[in-house]
Amino acid sequence: VVADPVLPRHVAIVMDGNGRWATARSLPRTEGHREGVSALRTIVEHCARIGIPVLTVFAFSRENWMRPDAEVNMLMDLFITALAEQVEALQSNGVNLRFIGDRDAFPVGLRTAIRRAEKKTGKNGRLKLQVAANYGGRWDITRACQGIAELVASKDIEIEEIDENLMSSYLGLSDLEDPDLFIRTGGERRISNFLLWELAYTELYFTDLLWPDFSPAALDEALQWFAGRERRFGRSPEQLNGPQGRVPG
Ligand code: IPE
Ligand code: IPE
Ligand code: MG
Repeated sequence: VVADPVLPRHVAIVMDGNGRWATARSLPRTEGHREGVSALRTIVEHCARIGIPVLTVFAFSRENWMRPDAEVNMLMDLFITALAEQVEALQSNGVNLRFIGDRDAFPVGLRTAIRRAEKKTGKNGRLKLQVAANYGGRWDITRACQGIAELVASKDIEIEEIDENLMSSYLGLSDLEDPDLFIRTGGERRISNFLLWELAYTELYFTDLLWPDFSPAALDEALQWFAGRERRFGRSPEQLNGPQGRVPG
């Protein structure tokens, strides 16, 4: 596949609307989450096929622990099952799976499943898939500050050496470029504490489709919308066609 020049290199998705998808069918919300896993699998395969190299999805926020115990427990079990069921397909699609977020809060069975899946897919290079679970943008930034404060306290760096690159290198997505395209399904137009630092210049796309209904065709529509954006990164429109128009980094 020849890469389309306007294809985003990194897509970030808030997979929202599972509960409403189920409720609309008089099913328990948990059925919506199950269907959400299958939607994710389809989208991951589509991204790999069309040549999107990096995909980051929001699966469970730090705030989602506030949901009823039954739903939280089901989600933990579903993550374990989904990992077990999907790891072979990820492997054969060349997907490198990684989790970002505080995994220490997860049940031991889930932590083990995550570690195994990451290890098993660790050498793949076709698509980097980051699953944000027990993740929050503020948590990530705060943790980065702690790590950098340690460097200062141990006199490994001077305060003046703290810059945006150092901050980025301490975040969960440290080794990746910032997302080019953010997609949120489910109709809400908010970030909900997803990648606060990394979304600084990301194009934001919102759709009313509920996550289980988000299809490859729906992704293609978002990609088409993205292709029409003029990304200025603070420059004037006139500068964009000249040699100054290149985006830094
Ligand atoms: C997103 O779907 C999945 C998680 C947050 C785990 P929701 O469960 O938030 O579905 P809605 O927004 O209630 O429909
Ligand atoms: C955002 O969805 C988190 C995930 C999709 C995992 P929520 O459903 O938790 O977001 P709010 O509560 O509507 O902002
Ligand atoms: Mg929701």
